[in-house]
Parts: sequence; structure tokens; C-alpha cells
Amino acid sequence: MNIIIRNASQVVTCSGRSLPMAGKAQSEIGVILNGSVIISGEKIAFAGSESELMAFLSEEKPEIDIEYDAENKVVMPGFVDSHTHFVFAGSREDEYEMRLAGKSYKEIADSGGGIWSTVMQVRNSSEEELAVASLRRLEKFFQYGTTTVEGKSGYGLDAGNELKMLRVLNLLSQENPLGMDIVPTFLGAHSVPKEISKADYIELICRDLIPEVAGGNLARYIDIFIEEGYFDAEDAGRILGKGREYGLKPRTHIDQFNSIGGTKASLTHGAVSLDHLEVMADSDIGLLRSHNEKAERKTTAGLLPGVSYFLGIPYAPARKLIDAGVPVLIATDFNPGSSMSENMQMMMSLASTQMKMSAEEIITSVTINPAYSLGLEDRIGSIEPGKQADILVFDIPSYKYIIYNFGVNNLECVIKKGRPFRISEFAPLTNSGT
Ligand code: NIG
Ligand code: FE
Repeated sequence: MNIIIRNASQVVTCSGRSLPMAGKAQSEIGVILNGSVIISGEKIAFAGSESELMAFLSEEKPEIDIEYDAENKVVMPGFVDSHTHFVFAGSREDEYEMRLAGKSYKEIADSGGGIWSTVMQVRNSSEEELAVASLRRLEKFFQYGTTTVEGKSGYGLDAGNELKMLRVLNLLSQENPLGMDIVPTFLGAHSVPKEISKADYIELICRDLIPEVAGGNLARYIDIFIEEGYFDAEDAGRILGKGREYGLKPRTHIDQFNSIGGTKASLTHGAVSLDHLEVMADSDIGLLRSHNEKAERKTTAGLLPGVSYFLGIPYAPARKLIDAGVPVLIATDFNPGSSMSENMQMMMSLASTQMKMSAEEIITSVTINPAYSLGLEDRIGSIEPGKQADILVFDIPSYKYIIYNFGVNNLECVIKKGRPFRISEFAPLTNSGT
């Protein structure tokens, strides 16, 4: 199917020449006024201005099946959510209430709640139950504009259940009705299970799980929660080192509540993204900056403002990171305990009001930079000929409206691999209730 999107008041391309977008270039989103995009099958065939379009049409004479008039609308790349925990069972709204009543995340975890309560529910769920619940969440991501989503294991915490989670991620990745791209990450080191010692669990991860995950091609990345009461820098050395031996690239959870050397440990082991960073020290920002100055492949800072909002903890130092030239990305960290929202637009709003990022910086943080962090920048994250047609059409006159008109969803259409899905539509309820 070939689609032409025409007359858009703005086509935001995010097609940076040098990736990832960092420092001043983090704001270079590339806007084509009165722009058009032609989609041919699953790919983008053309993006440009009206006069460029005329030239393209007379030269190429493509057959067009759908003409989409985007007058007064904004066209941009689909969002890439590079940090989520969308495969889980049950929910934790009771804990949310406990926190509102004054208990901290740590107090709840110490009394048997937290990650452990989701582990119990995952262990008691079949693969099919997990897949069905997760698919419904994928639809929510999609409804708010996310077309690629990373997903982590980490609620199994034993061999059988970690592999079960990864099989669900892979099953959904191979096939889901929206054609969403899913990137699986092995997060066995999310927490220490109650039934064995930490040393034995690390041994299980390194000796059994990593070879099995890599051998079965079940994950592309390996992750660890470096935090007081979970795993420390030394544990990270063992686990990430072993993961890398098996071709799993690290992306890590660091500096969420306490700064305990996560930056150095992660960088030493080749982490592609350092995520959370709510309490990151200035000296670690310097470390990350100088690491990137020498590195061919840059390490991104993955900021998760939904966690700060939901848990009432500090926001990550976005301004300092951007000003230091560190490429920043924003993700939902969607999970039942610290950020229960699939909505990337909500994170964009928080990034602006709470982390003082500009509309342009935010846009590169949810498109091309997370695509880069997932190693997918050649295929997704921008609107350029040859790339996969993952495109959003917003019914707003300017891209600045996404954060300005907060708390509502102005998405009109999501195009995934060239297939258009209408989002905003009032349809009468029929007898069958659908
Ligand atoms: O990214 N920080 C650790 N892991 C999750 C929270 C998991 C949970 O509470 O279930 C996070 O915030
Ligand atoms: Fe997380």
C-alpha cells in the first residue's frame, strides 16, 4: 500500500547528520514546513517540501492508494520507548495507596511488597496469561504514539520464570497485531529472590541463565539494578562482564535512590545506556562526558521522569547532562511499582515542566536518540527515505503543542510499518458492546 501525507503544517524529521543528537544538536529536529511524506509499503519513499514533492512525483510517478490531507497537522516519527517493564502480572495499586499514606518505596519493598510482589504474581501466571496482559499494554503504548518498545524480564528471578518472561517478549516481538517492534532485555539482576542467597543467585545468572538466554537468542541486552539493597558495582562487574562475553550488551539502572558507583561500573563494561540517574553526582556526569568524548559509540543517559512523578523522588539532572554534551533520551520505565504509565506524551510533558527541557530536546529524546541507544538508528527514529514508515500524525498546528496542550491525546493516526491506524475517532457503541 502506498500513502501520501500532504500539506502537513510541519513534518518533523529528526534526521540528524551525526548521531546521537547531543548538546546543542539535541535540539535539531529538522522541520519541513508545508511538508509531505510518501510511504511505499513498509518504508518511507520521500519526505520534503511541496516543490520537492512536485519534482519527485513527476519523476517517479508512484501509484498512490491513500491520500492523507494533513493540513494544520504535525507529522513526526513514532516514539521509541527504550526502557520499560511491560511484561508483568497483576498490579500494585494497594502499594500506591500505602505510599500516599506516607510509606516509602523502600519500606514497602522491605515488608514484602515492591518488586517481590510482582515476582509472586508472575510466577503464578502462565505464559499465555502474561502474553495476553502484555499485549493489552502494547495497545496502550501504541495509542499514545509509541511504535517501538524495549521490554525487560526481571519479575521471574529464577531460571524457569526469567526464561518464561523472555519467551513472552520474543513471542510478542515475532507477532503482534500492531506490528510493533519489541526489543527484549534480560534483567535477571533486578532483585535477589527470597529463596536463595545473593551469591547463589549471581552464580545462577552467570553460569546458567546468561548462556541459555544468549544461546536461545532470547535477549539483545542485559540489565542490572545497581542500588543499595539490590546489586553493587562488583556484582555488576561479574554479571555484565559475563553478559558481554555472550554478546549481550549492557544497559543499566543506576542512581535511582542512591549513587553507589553505577556510572563507573556500567561504563567499564560497555553500557550503551545509563538509565534513571535521579540522584546522579556531578562527578559522574563528568565521567560520562569524558567517556563519550573518547568512545566511538556514545552512551546515552536514559531519563525516566514518570518515576520521579510517581514516587515523589528528584528528577534527573537533564539540563546538566545536555549542557555537558551527553545524549539524552526519555523513556516511560512503564512498570507496576514505580511508573504505571505507557503514555510517552505524559513523560514529554514532565520533561518540559520538571526537567526544563525544550520542546526540541524532548522530541529527539523520544525518537532518534532512543533508537540509537537500541542500535536501531538505521531503521527507525526519523523520517527519511529508506527508513521504516513509523509515523505519527497529530491534529495540532505545531510540534510545540504536544507539551503545551498537556494531558490530552491529540494523536489522529499512527502509521506502523506503513499500516495506518486511526486513533482519534468517536464511534457509537453497538449492541455487541464494541
Ligand atoms: O525501573 N528500579 C528498579 N526497577 C523498576 C521498578 C520495579 C518495580 O517496582 O516493580 C524501575 O523503577
Ligand atoms: Fe526500569
